[in-house]
Amino acid sequence: MAGTPRKDEISGVETTGHKWDDIEELNNPLPRWWLWVFYASVLWAVVYWIAMPAWPGISDYTKGMLGYSQRNVVQNELAAVKASRAEWDQQILNSSLEEIVKDDTLNQYALAAGKAAFGDNCTGCHGSGAQGGKGYPNLNDDHWLWGGSLEEIHTSIAYGIRSTHEDTRVNDMSAFLRDEILEKAEISDVAEYVMSLSGTATDAQAASRGEELFVDNCVACHSEGGLGNRDLGAPNLADSLWLYGGDKATIIQSIAYGRKGVMPTWEARLDPVTIKALSIYVHALGGGE
Ligand code: HEC
Ligand code: HEC
Repeated sequence: MAGTPRKDEISGVETTGHKWDDIEELNNPLPRWWLWVFYASVLWAVVYWIAMPAWPGISDYTKGMLGYSQRNVVQNELAAVKASRAEWDQQILNSSLEEIVKDDTLNQYALAAGKAAFGDNCTGCHGSGAQGGKGYPNLNDDHWLWGGSLEEIHTSIAYGIRSTHEDTRVNDMSAFLRDEILEKAEISDVAEYVMSLSGTATDAQAASRGEELFVDNCVACHSEGGLGNRDLGAPNLADSLWLYGGDKATIIQSIAYGRKGVMPTWEARLDPVTIKALSIYVHALGGGE
């Protein structure tokens, strides 16, 4: 309720004229400290508008006299990290794989970089622990298709296997059934022979018939006794470790239609430092030679 302001007798303070249920509002000034904080805040806001990016415009915003930008701060931090890395990268680039492995700090740096790059690029095929899967070799063990030295691993990664790179590793096993090199029964026999190499054959007669077929058709790549040949990427067939599988049906499938596992080339996709780091990381997984 509005009334006319008057002096309150008890406090001696002017009233505002507002009155509710006979209670009147006194017109006390705001506390001094409150006012000062208020003025200071107003002043701070004005200073802030001038100094810092503040007002949005139609296509841009006021930049402020200090020119501060969080984006620039992040960019500068990234540039600093990059600069400190560049030094390491340069050392990796200039050192041979053997030299890197012998230098404790460089080796640690390469292993960390290799691990990160492996997670980003390789786990999709080789598995998160590099344990492999059907058609994708396990990289932790010392059974290598193409070789487990630093150089050989580097070649596999850089140029790929049956990849699009002109220096790719390549060797294609024939599809013995589809290409009409062997009959179905012969393939069954040779499969029994392959199984006999790791002691899983069930038909000794078929296996001994298969031996001759193996000598004629398979030894050129898989070597005598099926021990494999790394120069040709031909797996050892006698070690009970299988890339595709060691049951008879899978072995027959491998022989009848051939296998052509493809490992991409990384030369165009990753920089040389990363490929070196990856080679060192894979080499250190357990099977490096
Ligand atoms: C698209 C699937 C795929 C991806 C991705 C892939 N690989 Fe492979 N990798 C393969 C296949 C398949 C083989 C086996 C090729 C063969 O049968 O000879 C292989 C073979 C290899 C070999 C040779 C193994 C041996 O026994 O000689 C190495 C080393 C290797 N990969 C490392 C890597 C690294 C490091 C990466 C990540 C940069 C990677 N691979 C990414 C599919 C892949
Ligand atoms: C021209 C070389 C070559 C010849 C000849 C050849 N292979 Fe192979 N074989 C390979 C290669 C290379 C692989 C691996 C394919 C891959 O990595 O995808 C392979 C893979 C296999 C596998 C799969 C092994 C696994 O671990 O799963 C079997 C089984 C096999 N060969 C049996 C034979 C038999 C039996 C013959 C003869 C009838 C034969 N191969 C002839 C090159 C050859």
